[in-house]
Amino acid sequence: MAPVLRRTSARSRDPESRHPPPIRWVLAGRSLVNGRLRPLEIGVSGDGIIVALGRDLRSPERHDVGEGVILPSATDLHVHFRDPGGSRTVESFATGTVQAALGGVGLVADMPNTIPTVTDAARFEEKRSRVLGRAAVDVLLYGALITTSKLDELATTVGALKLYLSPTTGVDTPPGHDEIPSLLRRAAATGLPLTVHAEDPQKFRLDPPPRSLSDWDCSRPEVAEEAAVSEVIAAAPRGLRLHFAHVTSSRVADRIAKAGHSFEASPHHLLLSRESRLGSRAKVNPPLRSEAKRSELWARFAGGGIPCVASDHAPHDVAEKDRPFELAPSGMPNVETMVPLLLAKVRAGDIDLARLVAVAMDRPSRWVGLPRGRIALGHRADLIVVDFRDRRTITAKDLHAPCGWSAFEGREGIFPREHYRAGERIVFEGEYIGTPTGVLRRPEFAM
Ligand code: DOR
Ligand code: ZN
Repeated sequence: MAPVLRRTSARSRDPESRHPPPIRWVLAGRSLVNGRLRPLEIGVSGDGIIVALGRDLRSPERHDVGEGVILPSATDLHVHFRDPGGSRTVESFATGTVQAALGGVGLVADMPNTIPTVTDAARFEEKRSRVLGRAAVDVLLYGALITTSKLDELATTVGALKLYLSPTTGVDTPPGHDEIPSLLRRAAATGLPLTVHAEDPQKFRLDPPPRSLSDWDCSRPEVAEEAAVSEVIAAAPRGLRLHFAHVTSSRVADRIAKAGHSFEASPHHLLLSRESRLGSRAKVNPPLRSEAKRSELWARFAGGGIPCVASDHAPHDVAEKDRPFELAPSGMPNVETMVPLLLAKVRAGDIDLARLVAVAMDRPSRWVGLPRGRIALGHRADLIVVDFRDRRTITAKDLHAPCGWSAFEGREGIFPREHYRAGERIVFEGEYIGTPTGVLRRPEFAM
């Protein structure tokens, strides 16, 4: 990320900005400027827009974070807030978005596999009513691409589409192979971004019943992912804004990158392997792979070969997760810990800060067509302040997930000190202090 220093004062002579909205307050600290951490002042207007970037800005009010590092807030393309969730009360927009705010995430894209699944405009409306007045950060709602029957109606409401090619939580019967080309064509015609959960169930080996993370990897193997990815790439029409969720291996990443599509890796596939001692708590779809594959995926990520990171925050009640392996549901919470875990990796020198900003902030925002994820003139002041000395050991009892457990217990995290939403502070000294004014967003520009 490189903020463009177009103005150095509110009274710049730049003709384009002769009548800019006045600066109401200034956030001063350090930020990435041309790839290096340098002092930066951000001028914010009364309606929360970044109207000036530079040094020595004049302003009636000023907040100086000293050595603190100012970054754009993150965009998490993949969360399951389970709202509505039937009898499951493990999460909601209210609880999930507070975790997002505390974890430095300013926009969440919520998946449609709720109860009921978001398949038409009425179900979208029901979900929308649960967001407004309850969300601490902005929300983009996915619709489910299952049939084409109500797709046009659905497409006028949701912000993106999700296609599940394999059974997973809330999805019992995914579409068959023969339906995929027409679903992709119809998705392209809506102009909406489409995310695919790519695993081919015909390549699953579910017998004998899986009893460990290694069994789970063997039962839903990498070849199932490769087959589904190849099938979708081959059938994808021109103009489809396509993204693959939770890629687990460098080989699959290679295939997608060569075809020029977007994709994400999830922190659990980057940081955990099937050798983990977490048993069913680390059961996820697609499964954790071997330590060798994990480390290859991490190397690719740190080297810039993976465009996006997304949490796949999928909380399940701890009693459910601790059932015998074959009965435990797949998924783990992570929206509060994703950015802190990666900031700790930056501190350890395992990944560049600029790379983290690209994968967690800039690229995911571009993919959903929203002007955020960068510190730039005209963008909303959705910002976080990080102090790299704030190292903390992650423990579930300090986190805010109602499910009450974390697969990253004991790891180091650096949590943002402050989080601003449209220039309003919603997190201060690591505590949530906001009001639920998050709104629904839809794409505003093509990728
Ligand atoms: O591990 C997963 N959990 N993978 C999915 O595809 C769904 C998710 C969930 O909703 O629990
Ligand atoms: Zn998911």
